[in-house]
Amino acid sequence: MPRIAVRYCTRTGHSKQLAESVAAALGLEAKDVAEGLEEPVDQLYLCNGMYAARLDGQLLEFLEKYGKDAGEIVNVCSTASGRSTRKALQKACEAGGLDLSEREFVCKGAFHFLAKGHPDDGDLRAAANFAVITARKR
Ligand SMILES: Cc1cc2nc3c(=O)[nH]c(=O)nc-3n(C[C@H](O)[C@H](O)[C@H](O)COP(=O)(O)O)c2cc1C
Repeated sequence: MPRIAVRYCTRTGHSKQLAESVAAALGLEAKDVAEGLEEPVDQLYLCNGMYAARLDGQLLEFLEKYGKDAGEIVNVCSTASGRSTRKALQKACEAGGLDLSEREFVCKGAFHFLAKGHPDDGDLRAAANFAVITARKR
């Protein structure tokens, strides 16, 4: 059985919602990146958003400190544009020699008048399905 963890870094709650959906589908608990990783894992679902075209500093700190304990990092993100945070995450992973999975989940996340209502129930279900399929492929 692969060891899997789910962590989120959030400013407005969306990444927590996505993380809880992913974690529930995998029979795990979603935790804030502030809690770190208790033990090394084979796969880490990292739920995050984009802020002024950057990742949150706390997420980057978590990666620096605990990234080496995650065999494979799986990006699960929401942004107002619906564009992935992959580019920024890839940069951070490359800097730390971390393995970022090619598989990722991306959906819209509301910000002011943009992407209203997202992530919605459909997004949360899709994130859960993505996690079940991706975890099986470990
Ligand atoms: C301060 C701030 C800046 C943001 N900047 C961007 C941005 O540059 N590009 C984008 O697509 N979304 C941007 N967003 C939208 C967030 O990425 C989106 O709402 C995401 O779902 C937030 O996740 P969270 O609730 O877990 O923090 C921004 C949101 C906030 C609060």
